Amino acid sequence: MAGNGEKGDICNDGEAWWNATVQECRLWLMLEPLGQDLWFADGGIVSFKGFDYPTRMVIVRLADGGLWLWSPVEKTAALEQEVRALGPVRHIVSPNSLHYLFLSQWQVAFPEAELWGTAATIAKRKDLHFSKALADVAPAAWERQIDQFYFTNSLFMDELIFFHRASRTAIIADLSQTFSEAFLKKHWPWWMRPIAKLSQMTEGRGYPPIDYRISFRHRASARPKVRALIEEHPKHVVVAHGEIVRTEGETFLRRAFSWLLR
Ligand SMILES: [Fe+2]
Repeated sequence: MAGNGEKGDICNDGEAWWNATVQECRLWLMLEPLGQDLWFADGGIVSFKGFDYPTRMVIVRLADGGLWLWSPVEKTAALEQEVRALGPVRHIVSPNSLHYLFLSQWQVAFPEAELWGTAATIAKRKDLHFSKALADVAPAAWERQIDQFYFTNSLFMDELIFFHRASRTAIIADLSQTFSEAFLKKHWPWWMRPIAKLSQMTEGRGYPPIDYRISFRHRASARPKVRALIEEHPKHVVVAHGEIVRTEGETFLRRAFSWLLR
């Protein structure tokens, strides 16, 4: 497994990985590097309001070597082993009040890590011990490495978008969703699929679900944040639900947030 030999070291190293074959690493690794010091792992399917959603987590290795875990998926022994091979887990981050299902599993496994969430998540999960609520200003632990943009416009929930500078990756939970045609065909019944298409929460479009979009008010306050994110010139966009955007992330985000920017 990862970290137990030369192959593991190569496949867990963002740069060396490119010299190994994708197939060779994917056969036995759950984590996949996307850029410098950033990996992702796909989890299982969760059901929300009767819709099947794929899940994904992101792992960033900070400058001090500590790991920053975003929206952790269901923890398995194999995934935990691969994460441990990357470094010490120092931060576990929930981006919004719907992404909390597996926080406790990871906090139990890594009791020394700090748990972070938005104000709404902290209010919702009083059984978990959080550090301070996250908003627009990054904590000292990851300032100037990961930027964050906090949206409180929806009546449904608040949400944080992150941007990892070293890999130029935007990290988005629910404000952009990119369901593939293949996923929808496999997991959504035929009569549900038009909902995804009408909402434009599909690969290449990247809108959020239509009810989330409609609930966005005071949009003028959100626009400068989206523009600031785009002005970071993201290359990659990792979403929790759907296909990863591996190139031209900036172009994708202009399209994915056109409903808000116009
Ligand atoms: Fe979500």
